[in-house]
Amino acid sequence: MAAELIDGKLLAQEMKAELKEQVSKLRDKGIIPGLGVILVGDNPASKSYVTSKEKACEKIGIFSDDTRLPEDVSEEDLLRHVERMNSDDNIHGILVQLPLPKHIDENRIINAINPHKDVDGFHPVSVGKMILGQDTFLPCTPHGCLKLLERYDVKTEGAEVVVIGRSNIVGKPVANLLMRKDKPGNSTVTVCHTRTRKEDLLAHTKNADIIIVASGFPNTLTSDMVKEDVVVIDVGINRVVDSSRERGYRLIGDADFESLKDKVRKITPVPGGVGPMTITMLLFNTVKSAQNTIK
Ligand SMILES: NC(=O)c1ccc[n+]([C@@H]2O[C@H](COP(=O)([O-])OP(=O)(O)OC[C@H]3O[C@@H](n4cnc5c(N)ncnc54)[C@H](OP(=O)(O)O)[C@@H]3O)[C@@H](O)[C@H]2O)c1
Repeated sequence: MAAELIDGKLLAQEMKAELKEQVSKLRDKGIIPGLGVILVGDNPASKSYVTSKEKACEKIGIFSDDTRLPEDVSEEDLLRHVERMNSDDNIHGILVQLPLPKHIDENRIINAINPHKDVDGFHPVSVGKMILGQDTFLPCTPHGCLKLLERYDVKTEGAEVVVIGRSNIVGKPVANLLMRKDKPGNSTVTVCHTRTRKEDLLAHTKNADIIIVASGFPNTLTSDMVKEDVVVIDVGINRVVDSSRERGYRLIGDADFESLKDKVRKITPVPGGVGPMTITMLLFNTVKSAQNTIK
């Protein structure tokens, strides 16, 4: 039987309509939510993410303060831009697009962002609060995964969840959020990575009720690795050459969608699954930050 598609584009549209109303209420009070965006260098994927994020802001009435810096910008100069945004009351959220060039210490930059404006949820204060279950900005991609599970009635309580990937921005936080004593949450979570023995990975995925794939490689999860009633959330975004497309490439996930879609219970497509939710949760955090200024 064909799987039900978990439509991130649709949920993102619904959430953006709600956020637009909240922005309008803030504007009535004289508060225009503002997102400070810093992009360093010419990485085409980063450029395209930043453009999509800024367009999404504009559509719901968030203003973005766009700063583009050359690849060879110094760490001190970059820090000065972060500091300027930290002290600008019109900026409620700060987004430094990652990855940064190798000569810049990413941790130093993230740590310099005022936690009250940390709408990416990467600052150690935000991460610590997330783990402790305190109110904070949740990281956008993991939060988007949770919203998808919730909207598509996927029961997480007591579920065996396997997360493939242990990065700071996806694997670790999504695993943490799903093991929280909260809703969604209360799952039994197993995290797999490149040091997980191949036979163990298979045993874990075959036993899973929910699999979150965030490995960075296509076909990390294939249909022979899962049971039939599993729910698959594919976080991956990979560009593969496609000469039939005008732009010369198409996007695929980290899971083998074609083979999985006829076996599993529910699955996110790529594109149109987790991607649109990541942007929406950034808007969500920026609106939340603007609302926090009147609390
Ligand atoms: N949809 C979105 O909005 C969004 C947002 C962020 C990222 N992404 C995408 O999500 C994917 C993951 O991103 P990331 O930043 O988390 O990547 P990352 O930092 O490269 O981490 C990948 C993780 O996957 C593990 N891994 C790699 N191959 C594996 C395999 N064959 N079996 C088991 N584990 C494996 C790695 O293990 P080790 O730790 O042992 O190396 C690592 O922990 C990428 O495709 C990225 O483009 C999408």
